[in-house]
Amino acid sequence: MYETLDEVRADIAARLEEAARDRRSPMHTPVVATADADARVMVLRAFDCDRWTLRFHTDVRASKVAVIEADRRVAVLGYDRRAKVQLRLRGTGRIQRAGPAVDTAWAESNNFARRCYLGEGPGAVSDVPTSGLPPQFEGAEPDDEQIVPARENFAILLVEVAEIDWFSLAHTGHRRALLTRDGGTWISP
Ligand SMILES: Cc1cc2nc3c(=O)[nH]c(=O)nc-3n(C[C@H](O)[C@H](O)[C@H](O)COP(=O)(O)O)c2cc1C
Repeated sequence: MYETLDEVRADIAARLEEAARDRRSPMHTPVVATADADARVMVLRAFDCDRWTLRFHTDVRASKVAVIEADRRVAVLGYDRRAKVQLRLRGTGRIQRAGPAVDTAWAESNNFARRCYLGEGPGAVSDVPTSGLPPQFEGAEPDDEQIVPARENFAILLVEVAEIDWFSLAHTGHRRALLTRDGGTWISP
C-alpha cells in the first residue's frame, strides 16, 4: 500500500528504470501518443531520473517525426498488469538526428538492429508484403561498411516529462497521484 507521494515517486522511478533495462518488463514497450491523435508502441531505451527524460529510437522518415517537430506534445502510456499500475506521462518531445547522445545510442546498437534503418522508410507503400529491407539483408547482418548509409535515417526521440499520472488498482481502494518534478498531489481515482 502506498502511503506517501515519495513512495509513489520512487515506484515510478524504479518502474521506468527497470523498463528501460529489462526487455521482459511490462513497461519496456509503452504506447507513445502524439498531438495528431495517433499512438504507437515503442521500445523505451533509457530513463534519466534526474532530468525526468525518456529516450526512444526512431527512423527519421517515420511520420511521428514530422508530427513531433510540428507540435512537441507527447504522452507515454504504460501498464504493468501484474502490479496493476498505470503510468500516464505527459511531456515535450524532441527529435535529435546528430550529436553525442545520438552517436552513443547508435554505437550501443549492433548491425543487426541497425539494418532496420537501411531499407525503405516506415510507411512506404509497396505492391507486395515487405519488410522494407534490401533483399540481401533479409535475415542477414550487414557488415560495418554496408551499414553506413543507415546512420542518416536514425534519430533519437527525447521526451522531457512534465507530469506523471500514477494509478494503482486495488480491491481495497484504488489510489491515484499526479506528480510533477518538484511536487505532486493525491487525486481521486
Ligand atoms: C513491440 C514493438 C516495438 C516497437 N518499437 C519501436 C521503436 O522503438 N521505435 C519506432 O520508431 N517504432 C517502433 N515500433 C513500430 C511502431 O509501433 C510504429 O509502427 C512505427 O514506428 C511507425 O509509426 P509512425 O508512423 O507513427 O511513425 C515498434 C512496434 C512494436 C510492435
